[in-house]
Amino acid sequence: MDKGNSGLNRREALLAAGGAAALLGSAVPVGASAAEVCDLKGALRQLAGKLYYTLDMPGHWKGKEQGHSPLIKVDRKGNDVLVRAATRHPMDPDHFIVKHLLMDEDLNVIKTQMFDKTFDLPRSRFQLNGYKGRIYVVSMCNVHDNWINWTDA
Ligand SMILES: [Fe+2]
Repeated sequence: MDKGNSGLNRREALLAAGGAAALLGSAVPVGASAAEVCDLKGALRQLAGKLYYTLDMPGHWKGKEQGHSPLIKVDRKGNDVLVRAATRHPMDPDHFIVKHLLMDEDLNVIKTQMFDKTFDLPRSRFQLNGYKGRIYVVSMCNVHDNWINWTDA
């Protein structure tokens, strides 16, 4: 594969494609080694603002950050960890948040919360008993794509 302007080599691009699948609801490539996961994180960083968006990398959705980047709050009591996520976004019939995905520090999808645009607000709660480490929350808008935020639990 031609590196072109992306700076990705073939291996990174394949791993990034797996990461893209993760953002769309599938898992990180099965059997990925720790080194491959690190490469995946590096490749994914290069896709910020292009394939997915963050507060700092809104790409062509600049100006949409506040209504799409998920807020995350973590409450810990011993081993009990409650993660709450919210997206400050309306739930209109033709424009809404589809779901939240919670991913662990290796970008494995731990849990998802689907939203019913008729009844739900884009808020989710995830119980993560015993988990300690970085978490990522992906908020998927049906118009403005995937937005990621993260914190440590
Ligand atoms: Fe949106």
